[in-house]
Amino acid sequence: MIQFERVSKMFPGGTLAVDNLTLDVHAGETLVLLGTSGSGKTTSMKMVNRLTEPTAGHVRVDGRDVMRQDPIALRRTIGYAIQHIGLFTHMTVAENIAVVPRLLRWPQPRIDERIDELLIMVGLDPRQFQPRYPAQLSGGQRQRVGVARALAADPPIVLMDEPFGALDPITREQLQDEFLALEGEIRKTIVFVTHDVFEAVKMGDRIALLDAGRLQQLDAPRDLVERPANEFVEAFLGHHRVQLELMTRKVGALVKAGDIGSETTTAAASLHDNDSLLTALGKMKSTRADRLSVFRREQHVGTLSRRQLLAAIAESLGLSESSP
Ligand SMILES: Nc1ncnc2c1ncn2[C@@H]1O[C@H](COP(=O)(O)OP(=O)(O)O)[C@@H](O)[C@H]1O
Ligand SMILES: [Mg+2]
Repeated sequence: MIQFERVSKMFPGGTLAVDNLTLDVHAGETLVLLGTSGSGKTTSMKMVNRLTEPTAGHVRVDGRDVMRQDPIALRRTIGYAIQHIGLFTHMTVAENIAVVPRLLRWPQPRIDERIDELLIMVGLDPRQFQPRYPAQLSGGQRQRVGVARALAADPPIVLMDEPFGALDPITREQLQDEFLALEGEIRKTIVFVTHDVFEAVKMGDRIALLDAGRLQQLDAPRDLVERPANEFVEAFLGHHRVQLELMTRKVGALVKAGDIGSETTTAAASLHDNDSLLTALGKMKSTRADRLSVFRREQHVGTLSRRQLLAAIAESLGLSESSP
């Protein structure tokens, strides 16, 4: 869907922001660009919609070199949400969301319908929020509008640059969860920039870890966490490694392995099969339950006992008694 082939970006001042980057973003996946500040994440992302142009190599979208596409037309097919959102302050929420559909000359009734649909999708009451200006919104509400605007014309590709960056941890986690649920329905190809390894592991199907413009590792979260490709990756994960390992192990894997009970009696507290072992541990602690029901979609698929959970945690950390 998106291909970087030996892409470099040297800024006029002489900074090599991106250094020989080769990677593919597959259709329908969320690829996270992860790295510390200045590692070249934003620059890499901006080369996809030509807000920045490569100085070497090729960026292709749908097989076509972006340098051979009209940048304005290209940008209309790619949604873009950024950290400080860049909502137009003199436009209402409704007008902000309508920007790209208007450029695409959608008929007004279709635009109105789309605005309502998107506001509901991001959890804002259309009647209440349509007429507001960005200054009349909280940080979390602004981010929601930013996401709605990026999705407005239903683009196949969405670029998100630290979209939840400027939020308090609770609102941030809430928006991440909502976006994950939303993403499961809309199936877009998403490039997501963050400097936060926890956010990367949570949001990404795959993670590209960059350092000084160079790709250090490109892998699924679990593989990145369990098999760091080099010392840089290892140092980057650092002391978060144990927590990250528990975040990347899913409860559903226990169901498949037959490590949890198949009784259909529903316990008081419940988990989803794509919840992590860490989430399961947290829920067991907060509910004081000693067994949790596991659901896949609406269906009850098993019961996880405290003992089974602790055994799975020990096993995934390589601490179980049977492991060497
Ligand atoms: N317009 C620009 N002109 C010159 N240097 C830039 C420009 N934009 C970014 N850089 C430099 O390129 C490097 C990568 O920046 P950036 O892609 O924004 O990093 P990140 O998004 O990972 O924090 C940094 O050293 C930054 O200072
Ligand atoms: Mg950046």
